[in-house]
Amino acid sequence: MLQPMSRTLLPETVERYVTREIAHETDVQRRLRAETAGMPHAGMQIGADQGALLALLVRLVSARRAIEIGTFTGYSALAVASALPADGKLICCDVSDEWTSVARRYWNEAGVAERIELRLAPATETLADLLKRGGGETFDMAFIDADKSNYDAYYESCLKLVRRGGVIALDNMLWSGKVADPDVHDEDTDALRALNAKISDDRRVDACLLTVGDGVMLARKR
Ligand SMILES: C[S@@+](CC[C@H](N)C(=O)[O-])C[C@H]1O[C@@H](n2cnc3c(N)ncnc32)[C@H](O)[C@@H]1O
Repeated sequence: MLQPMSRTLLPETVERYVTREIAHETDVQRRLRAETAGMPHAGMQIGADQGALLALLVRLVSARRAIEIGTFTGYSALAVASALPADGKLICCDVSDEWTSVARRYWNEAGVAERIELRLAPATETLADLLKRGGGETFDMAFIDADKSNYDAYYESCLKLVRRGGVIALDNMLWSGKVADPDVHDEDTDALRALNAKISDDRRVDACLLTVGDGVMLARKR
């Protein structure tokens, strides 16, 4: 379900400092953010600081193959693909032709379109297809940022697809702070709260819930 979300829990001045003074966007990233800002659901786009984090992760694990679940207008994919080597590959999962057609324009402008394979289908289907075709343990990194009630299924599939030492990043794991309030119960909040608890006890990974943006759970496969 699409819900408006607060993208950050930081005070506005700190948020502005982190995203505008410290995180450096490219010209293409800035223009994509500006175009997306005029669209409905613009708040779904990740922040500049999160884009910088994703690019850093790509480089930290020397990623060549990555998966993204939830592409929207393409900002996070642009950050990941730009950090991949020229022969790297990013598989993007989304269901919206309308939103991802914006993404394609900016990927072309940035010269990274050839590194990106967009699959328009429910992500559970795309992930199952990748596994069926022998994709297990062939990816270095995964970024999960789509429908929250399916996050656990996405996490389990990504754990199979990512190699040992690879990383899985999950966005919105603080869900505007609602996961921390035991009195809040709705489908998405309950799903994310349960998944935070599961990952923090999961012996298959080393994990840390980062308070960047709306909360990024970072899990490294053991
Ligand atoms: C929060 S947005 C992604 C934002 C994006 N990562 C960015 O940086 O701008 C969530 C996206 O997930 C997609 N989505 C929702 N349900 C999906 C599903 N079942 N399978 C694949 N994509 C889905 C939506 O179409 C939407 O584009």
